[in-house]
Amino acid sequence: MSNSTVALPNSKTAAEPTFPPSSTMEILISKEQLAERVTAIGKQISAEYEGHSIVLIGVLKGAAIFLADLARAIDVDVTFDFVAVSSYGRARVSSGAVKMIKDIDNPIEGKHVILVEDILDTGLTLTFLRDLMLQHKPASLKIATCLDKPERRLVPIQADYVAFAIPNQFVIGYGMDYAERYRGVEDIRLFPNEAVGH
Ligand code: IMP
Ligand code: MG
Repeated sequence: MSNSTVALPNSKTAAEPTFPPSSTMEILISKEQLAERVTAIGKQISAEYEGHSIVLIGVLKGAAIFLADLARAIDVDVTFDFVAVSSYGRARVSSGAVKMIKDIDNPIEGKHVILVEDILDTGLTLTFLRDLMLQHKPASLKIATCLDKPERRLVPIQADYVAFAIPNQFVIGYGMDYAERYRGVEDIRLFPNEAVGH
């Protein structure tokens, strides 16, 4: 094998997305603000479900970090499950077609369930998941979302627990991605509009 480096084209095509460093992006919600709200929601849930156990169903992948923090802020028993749905893409005017890619592993009939999502945006994903989960006849079903963008709603749905309502701006961090990147960023930051491919 030769040690020579592979020649890569050094000019980007116009369609290629750019991934600016997260440190250059404005912080919308700091990790401290997130911690404070998640603790508060955890307390509220703990009080409301006192004496019961809860199944937290996270929507992969964006909700993973919110779910992990929320679970540790809740002091009644929780179990985890996860679902994954196909994303229809941000720019696309959705047909409402959301597809289940990974279903729950354990039955939820008769259980107290909280669906945990990163962002409630158009509402299509959570409407689809809520209706599907209700078919399993849980004892109760609520929705917790880290962020809510009420301006973007295409179908009427509300979350029971919302950490922050935000304007119609694209954000990354705290589990949320742009093209699968930035999920590990600790604060929630504004993704710049001018970044290519957005
Ligand atoms: P909807 O409510 O069906 O439109 O789906 C919301 C999903 O869109 C979220 O779970 C995210 O995966 C994605 N999404 C919406 N807005 C943003 C954003 O600002 N940043 C990252 N992902 C977003
Ligand atoms: Mg998501």
